[in-house]
Amino acid sequence: MPFADFRLSLATQSLDLVMQQTIMQSLSLADATVFSPGQTSVGLACDQHIETLYIHIPFCHTLCRFCSFHKIKYNREKALVYFEALRKEIKRVIAAGLRFNRVYIGGGTTTILEDELVKTIELIKSLTNVREVSCETDPSYFKTGKPEMLNGLVDRMSIGLQSFDDNILKASGRFEKFGSGDEQEIDIAKGIELFPTVNVDLMYGFKGQTPASVVADIERMIQLKPDQITTYPLTLGIGKNRKKSKCLAGESKDLWPQFLAVKQAMAEHYMMEFPWSYSRNFGDKVENKYVLDGENCFGVGSGAFGRFGQQFQISSFDIDGYIELINQGNVGTSHHKMLSNKSINQHHLMIMMGKGCLDHALFKAHTGKSLWQAFPLELGYLLTAGALIKDGNSYRTTEAGQFIALKMFSGFLAGMDYLREQALQLANTRWT
Ligand SMILES: C[S@@+](CC[C@H](N)C(=O)[O-])C[C@H]1O[C@@H](n2cnc3c(N)ncnc32)[C@H](O)[C@@H]1O
Ligand code: SF4
Repeated sequence: MPFADFRLSLATQSLDLVMQQTIMQSLSLADATVFSPGQTSVGLACDQHIETLYIHIPFCHTLCRFCSFHKIKYNREKALVYFEALRKEIKRVIAAGLRFNRVYIGGGTTTILEDELVKTIELIKSLTNVREVSCETDPSYFKTGKPEMLNGLVDRMSIGLQSFDDNILKASGRFEKFGSGDEQEIDIAKGIELFPTVNVDLMYGFKGQTPASVVADIERMIQLKPDQITTYPLTLGIGKNRKKSKCLAGESKDLWPQFLAVKQAMAEHYMMEFPWSYSRNFGDKVENKYVLDGENCFGVGSGAFGRFGQQFQISSFDIDGYIELINQGNVGTSHHKMLSNKSINQHHLMIMMGKGCLDHALFKAHTGKSLWQAFPLELGYLLTAGALIKDGNSYRTTEAGQFIALKMFSGFLAGMDYLREQALQLANTRWT
């Protein structure tokens, strides 16, 4: 193995270990406090502006093996009652004075009951001005649903494909419900025609994938010309979910050549926004606002998280418990916790690394600290690993640095998985 590769492999292996420990420490919910029922403003001042309202829809037709997002198998009765409760919560949050620039509806499968989704978006638009509404769905929606109903309501649609490879679709439990790669290609092409901005999710790091097969997926996707392509590295959870998704995963050492292959395949027609997300470089400029870029966010619906400043908010992960909270006149928030400055800064570090520049002056203006004061160990480590190079007073990420940012992002997703697992336990202890 050439020295540079060896250095990178050692650096990413030690990063995996350090990240796992950091996540367990900073994202432990052992010190989370129960949110007192009756509070509706979540301790925020009236007319507080929050960048994003995150809405969670926890229902799916099929439960994919790699996915640890909060969801249950679709049940129409429950979903109808759920959407009712959700709209009550949204009204309550807006009545309490919160205002948002954007709405991100994630899941689960947000389009599982279109009429209800339409009613929910229309309600938000009737109560407050928002600049953009984003939704997530799967490809089969464009075959079996009526996506035209969302015209003029949804600005950005994100469609999960993961891979065109039927073996991967079968292994992860998606083939049966969503069809073959060929069928899903037709469905996605329809979706791309319908919305102003369309993103498609692909994943890599599956067992059996090679740089060549990952390139084949990317090239096929590029032919469809979506506005954005997100390429997620398959992330294994930390707790119970790890075992399930680990059966699907390739070897950790295979991720670097696959990352390089993704970059190369994208280079001509798409530009990297983050090492995990790309926007087309042809046609009109794509408005790109990545959902996890560290801006303030308030979560509604069972299984939502929010963060504003140092306050971290968790909505009940028990769907029946959530509906009960709302019907008793509360918001769905069940717990909250204060995040340390250190964990917030670590998130900023990931975002800065992902954006490609650690801007010294900007960082100092935001935090009052120099980069070296905030991250003495991290910067030493990143420079030794060849992840950063000095650029005037700032640092630029190298290709190895982009890969380390991708690993940090994967660690962040694993952290979210760890949070979800703890939140589910909290919900079970609260309602039993
Ligand atoms: C929560 S899903 C919602 C999309 C939609 N339900 C679907 O499956 O097509 C959003 C995206 O998260 C990504 N994802 C889910 N589990 C993941 C994991 N373990 N590692 C990396 N990405 C994951 C997938 O790319 C998926 O499209
Ligand atoms: S990947 Fe999408 S469809 Fe599959 S379980 Fe997760 S949210 Fe549901």
